[in-house]
Amino acid sequence: MDMIDTLGAAGIIPVIVIEDIEKAVPLARALVKGGLPVLEITFRTSCAAEAIAKINREVEGATTIAGTVLTLEQLCAAKAAGAQACVAPGFDPEIVKAANRLGMPFCPGVATASELSQALSLGCRLVKFFPAESAGGVKYIKDLLGAFRWTGVKFMPTGGVKPANVRDYLAVPEIICCGGTWIAPKDAVAAGDWAAIERLASEAAALKAR
Ligand code: 3PG
Repeated sequence: MDMIDTLGAAGIIPVIVIEDIEKAVPLARALVKGGLPVLEITFRTSCAAEAIAKINREVEGATTIAGTVLTLEQLCAAKAAGAQACVAPGFDPEIVKAANRLGMPFCPGVATASELSQALSLGCRLVKFFPAESAGGVKYIKDLLGAFRWTGVKFMPTGGVKPANVRDYLAVPEIICCGGTWIAPKDAVAAGDWAAIERLASEAAALKAR
C-alpha cells in the first residue's frame, strides 16, 4: 500500500491497546462502522500480532498498521500478521533499515530536527510527531516545516491529540493524519461498549473534514 495515501485518506487513526484478544474483532468492527478504517494496533500487549491477523481475516474494510514497533522481533511479527505498515514512537535507525529491507512501510517517531533529519536520510517520508502536545504541538511542527517543507515530509502527530485540538493539526497541509487513544478508551473496550466506541469513531470521523 502507499502508506501516505492510506493514512491520509483515513485522517484520524485510532491508537489501540488490546489486552483481550476476544475484544479485537468487535472493537475493530465498531471503529470501521464509525468511519475510521485504519487502525493502529500497538505492540504494548502480547496479543498484538494475533489481533492484527484476526482483524485482517474477519473485519471487512479494516486496514491494520502495527504501532509501538520497537524491536526487530515485533517488526517481523507485524509483517507476518499482515500489518500494512508499522509505526513507532521514536526513531531507531536499525529498525527503519530493517523495515526498508523487508519492504515494510515504516513511520518512525521524531520530536527534534535532528531525528527528522536522520529519518529523512533513511528514506522516511512520513514521520510520527510524538509526544505531540508535550513536544510543542502545532506550532513546533510549523517551525520544523520552515526548514523541512521542501523535503516533502509529512507528519502524523500523536500524543495529547484530542477532539479539542485535532482540527488545528489537520489544518496544516503537511499533517496528513492524527492518531489518538481517545477513540478507543480503555474502560469502554474492557466493558465491551461497542456502541460508545462507534459513536466516538463517528464523531472523530466528522472532525477530519478539512
Ligand atoms: C501513541 O502511541 O500514539 C500515544 O499513546 C497516543 O497518545 P494519546 O493517548 O495521548 O492519544
